[in-house]
This record gives sequence, C-alpha cells and structure tokens, in this order.
Amino acid sequence: MWGGRFESGPAAIMREITPSIGFDKRLAAEDIAGSRAHCRMLAAEGIISKDDGQKILGGLDAVEKEIAAGEFVFKRELEDIHLNIEARLAELIGPAAGRLHTARSRNDQVVTDFRLWVRAACSRAEDGLLELQRALHAQAAQHLDTILPGFTHMQVAQPVTFAHHLMAYVEMFGRDRARFEDARKRMNESPLGSAALAGTSFPIDRDATAKALGFARPMRNSMDAISARDFALEYLAACSICAVHLSRLAGELVQWSTQAFGFVKLSDAFTTGSSIMPQKRNPDAAELVRGKTGRVLGDFVALATVVKGLVLTYGTDLQEDKERVFDAADTLEISIAAMAAMMADLTANPARMKAAAEAGYPTATDLADWVVRVLQKPFREAHHIAGSIVKAAEERGLTLDALPLEEMRKIEPGITSDVYAVLSLESSVNARMSLGGTAPARVREQLAHWKSQLA
Ligand code: ARG
Repeated sequence: MWGGRFESGPAAIMREITPSIGFDKRLAAEDIAGSRAHCRMLAAEGIISKDDGQKILGGLDAVEKEIAAGEFVFKRELEDIHLNIEARLAELIGPAAGRLHTARSRNDQVVTDFRLWVRAACSRAEDGLLELQRALHAQAAQHLDTILPGFTHMQVAQPVTFAHHLMAYVEMFGRDRARFEDARKRMNESPLGSAALAGTSFPIDRDATAKALGFARPMRNSMDAISARDFALEYLAACSICAVHLSRLAGELVQWSTQAFGFVKLSDAFTTGSSIMPQKRNPDAAELVRGKTGRVLGDFVALATVVKGLVLTYGTDLQEDKERVFDAADTLEISIAAMAAMMADLTANPARMKAAAEAGYPTATDLADWVVRVLQKPFREAHHIAGSIVKAAEERGLTLDALPLEEMRKIEPGITSDVYAVLSLESSVNARMSLGGTAPARVREQLAHWKSQLA
C-alpha cells in the first residue's frame, strides 16, 4: 500500500506487532458504510467520475456479501480492516478501487468507523438497560406489601418493602441509561473528511458524508477529529458506572439467595450445582456479573492511560482503543442480559424476609418517634427510652409489639397501649409517607412514574 518509498519489507516482528485485523474486523460493516458515503460524495462533487463511483459501490456490495457469507479472507499482512477491504476491492474491480482513498486517510477512516460502532454500542446498552428496568419493575409490582429489613451497615435498620428496594435499582439503571444516551448524542459528529490530520485540498462535502452516516454534523476541527477518543472514554466511563451498579445488585442476589438469608430463590435455570456437595445451588451468573466489573473498570483505565500524554494528532498507540471498547461492550451486554433474566426468574420468600425484619427490632425508631410525638420528649431522650425498651424485649426474646405494656411502663411510665399501633412492621412501613419513602402509597407513585417511562 505504500511501496513507493520502501526498498524492503517489514521485519518479522513488525508483522507480529502491527496488525489489528484480528480484532478490527468487527468494524467491517462500519468501514463499508463509511466508504459508501465517501464514494458517493466524491462522485457527486466530481472528484472521481460517476463511472468509477458506480464500480466502487458495486465492489463494496460484493465485499459486504463475502464478509456476510464468511467467505472473505482476512489477511494479517494487510494489517487492518481498511487495507483488507481496499485490497479485496482492487481484486474485484481493478484500478478504480485506487480512487476510493482520494481525500481520505486511514486516520479519519478508522475513527469514523469507530464512532459509528460505539454509537451503536450505546444504543444496545440503552436497550438492554430498558429490559433490565422492566424486569425489576415487574418484580417490584408484585411486592408492594412484601416487607424485608432495610439495612445500614448491614445491620437491620428499618422495615422497607421489597418493591421499594427493587425500585432503587430502577432509578440507578435509569441514570445509567441516560449516561449512554447523553454520550451517544455528544459523540454523534463526523470526523470523516479530516483526512490525515489537516483536512484536504480536494473540494469535499463533509456535510453530505456526515448526513449519509447519520451524524448530526461534521466535527469542526480536523486535528481534534483525528485524535479525539473521549467519545470512547465516555462510553467506557458509562460502562464502568453501570457495571458497578450491576455488581451491587449481583451482590444482593448472592446474599439474598444464601441459606442464612433465604430472601429469594433462583430457579434451576439460573443456579449451578457443586461437583462435590450435592446440596449446593450456586448463583454463578450473579457472581460472574459481580466479578466482571473489574474487567470493565480495567478497560476504562487502560484506554485513559493510552490517551494520556499523547500529543496531537494520530499515533498508532490509538490502535489500542478498540479491544478495550469491544471487551467492555461484550462484558457489559452479557451482564445486563443475565441480570435482567435473573430478575425475571427470582422468586421472593416474603416469610423469610419478614422473619429477618422482626429479628432486628426495626421499629425502634417508630417507638422513639411515638415518644416524641405523644409524650413531647426531645428526640435524644426518646432514643434512650426506646433503646432501653429494645434491651428489655431482647432479654425476654420478644419482638417490640409482643412486649407487655407494663414492661415498657417500667422504663417510661407515660407510655400507653396506643403505642402498639406504631410497633408492627406494617405500621412502620405505612407511616413512611414522606416523598420517596417506603410507604406502599409512595412506592406506587414510583411504579406509576416508571411505568410510563418504560412503556
Ligand atoms: N489500524 C489503525 C488503527 O486501528 C488504523 C489507522 C492507521 N493509521 C495509520 N496512519 N497508521 O488505529
């Protein structure tokens, strides 16, 4: 491709280190789309003849078919997807193929392909997250009245509903989805026509190629267009945050499905056995989603490190961008899909959830609040009184709502039987009517809000 000034071929080690075809063949469809747009524009502007334009377009169709049929022979000595396709085009249509690269460089070609690929990856992540949110929403709608302990410090804190807990993840994944959408819109500008770095002397029409490829507009600065990879970094950052969120939900699933918790059960389809312990039902997929987070975070750090300190414009360092993005995309997409499937699959065990909540005196705050409201005590004093009553209940092995009134009155004589109205799990949950609170009436509002968003 560049024989003119070279007398000998590359060293063997160069043939090892240089090729990217092993991975950038994934850009084939985008490369052909970019070449079509470029070719049509060249012909429209009279930079190449209409006849050559037609030949090139016909050849690109043939190449596309060969790739789709698995008949295309990718050659390592042709380095990358761009040179592989161009060389095959030349075999198929002859010298006209050599005109396609007029007013173009692999530098704007590769980053155009890559932007198209990452743009589509954002859309796939958005679609996957929508499905995951729907699965969480459907599960939540079944459990508006299912009470489980809400934890802080992994200690039983206050009773909440399972619907409320699941809807917290719907919120998180909603923000993740918005991050991909936002990144997708920002990256949707065309670098094509920036050529090697400085633009071209040919009278090209960058608006036309941008439009043909579905970009909102051409990028303003050719040097920026060639060297910028923040679109890929933004995608990886969105993947990273999303993977962290997935790992939290995965962690919950692992914990909820332990014998000690028993809050949920995953079906046989989503658990694996042990080769030695017949009783085991391991939540492998949840553990893998949790574990794969490290890869995605690593992908972000790896690409950020490649770009760091890299002066303008293109350096072959940037060839390292694609594998990190492909790996993150593959990892995230399977993680989202597995999580959505597990969320649809799981069966909650409300009895176990309730027993766990009762074991932890989660209505102690309600007792303290009652003392404040009815006996007009300062909250700090009420906190102390409630703490002493919890201690008394604990000594007798009773829940707060089963502790006899006289035991409470020994600690605080002002307490009356009215207090029992606030001591049950249900009354505690129903009382948390503040906006965003766990009362079923409030959670129902969250469900209604998301129902229309997820429709
Ligand atoms: N394979 C290269 C990459 O992935 C394509 C661009 C090469 N450009 C160049 N001037 N060597 O970045």
